Amino acid sequence: MDYQSIINEIADEVSPLLKDGKVADYIPALAGINQNQFAMSLTLFDGTQFSVGQADTLFSIQSISKVFSFTLALKFYNTDLYKRIGHEPSGNPFNSLVQLEYEHGKPRNPFINAGAINVTDALINHYGTCKTAYEEVLGFIRAISDDESICSNEIVAASEMEHGYRNLALANLMKSFNNLDNRVEDVVGTYFKHCSLEMSTKMLSRAMLYLANDGVDPILGVTYLTPSQSRRINAVMLTCGHYDASGDFAFNVGLPGKSGVGGGIVAVVPNVMGLSVWSPGLNAQGNSLVGTKALELFTDKTGLSIF
Ligand code: DON
Repeated sequence: MDYQSIINEIADEVSPLLKDGKVADYIPALAGINQNQFAMSLTLFDGTQFSVGQADTLFSIQSISKVFSFTLALKFYNTDLYKRIGHEPSGNPFNSLVQLEYEHGKPRNPFINAGAINVTDALINHYGTCKTAYEEVLGFIRAISDDESICSNEIVAASEMEHGYRNLALANLMKSFNNLDNRVEDVVGTYFKHCSLEMSTKMLSRAMLYLANDGVDPILGVTYLTPSQSRRINAVMLTCGHYDASGDFAFNVGLPGKSGVGGGIVAVVPNVMGLSVWSPGLNAQGNSLVGTKALELFTDKTGLSIF
């Protein structure tokens, strides 16, 4: 398949839509970004990459980091993790509080904010300190990307903390139900540091390979997860990776995927490739508008949906 021609064609087709989204301004440090940007990359199992657009530009990975923290938590806690976090779609916005109250402080899944904050709490328990939990997630992301240059953006992390009332409310609510062990500010601060990591679509498409290959990095041969754990992460990405638009994403794209409010999306074609798109303008559910469209065109043109 001529992947380069296909993604070039996609870049042309989505360019009229670049003006339609809206950048995430609830994080002031992300509000000023030029939304007229687009990148798409794919990485095959032998390391071959195809890219179009600003595929080397670093952007804030935000909720895409939830895939990586969930991976580490699942590796250490396995199915015990589901005592504190579910694996059902929420049907609600990523930062919603209401369901958490009804459901006694147990987040529906690891990809809504409450779930990812809870995963961070579990990682702090496992590693002993916030600093180590942050560094281990960073180390894991560097390993799966085979790139030691990946760093967090302290300005973005501080901006989120300064305006993080809703996430602090979610953490406090979980704490009130005895479903958070560490100090609220410490857990949320560590979560924000993971969210503020910066990567490009080239790096992210490479980082997703372990999930396309049953938990094993096909290039370096490193095993991160069992096949069953890896498949379950893909199942949760498919059903919960785009919050209250997860059904739409499964319907229109047909791949396990995870979005972030920085405008990035990662996806996997099982047994074939890792994929990433980026365009900062978001749709009403907080997912990249152009990125979603680009992935929809990709599976239409290649037939590579899982269905
Ligand atoms: O906690 C937040 O609101 C952000 N750090 C992450 C949210 C996010 O990326 C939602 N994704 N589309």
